[in-house]
Amino acid sequence: MAKEELMAELIPIGSDHAGFELKEKLEAHLKALGYEVDDYGAATPAPTDYADYAHRVARKVSTGEARRGVLLCGTGLGMSYVANRYPHVRAAVVWSPEIAELSRRHNDANVLVLPARFISDEDAEKALDVWLSTPFDGGRHARRVEKIELEETGE
Ligand code: RB5
Repeated sequence: MAKEELMAELIPIGSDHAGFELKEKLEAHLKALGYEVDDYGAATPAPTDYADYAHRVARKVSTGEARRGVLLCGTGLGMSYVANRYPHVRAAVVWSPEIAELSRRHNDANVLVLPARFISDEDAEKALDVWLSTPFDGGRHARRVEKIELEETGE
């Protein structure tokens, strides 16, 4: 067995104050599943700025240092705006397990963004589980995903 297969996957995670509590719960869940977690903050529920955490996690995925990452804020929007500015990052705001599945099957999402103020803890955990275990369908979806990073002219 290759060495990488023996090592637990390291998943970077980050949130602002609005996502802090859910981040802590999902981090414990990930560890219980056998993942290693790189927690980029926030370290407390004190008011803070979502971009600081989104940059850290998105950079890890963009450079390939991490295969995938997880971000949380109140709506998921601020985190997704920042993360999707990075090359090769496809950050999906996910509000149900069904959307989590489609974000993987159709969009090959590599950053899961959860809207902590608009999803129950139970659904967030289910969405995370589905997201981690669902493969990309490829095929016609691969062509569409490839077009995401074309120049802004769309050519
Ligand atoms: C914080 O109040 C909130 O604006 C933030 O968590 C997020 O929803 C921004 O997109």
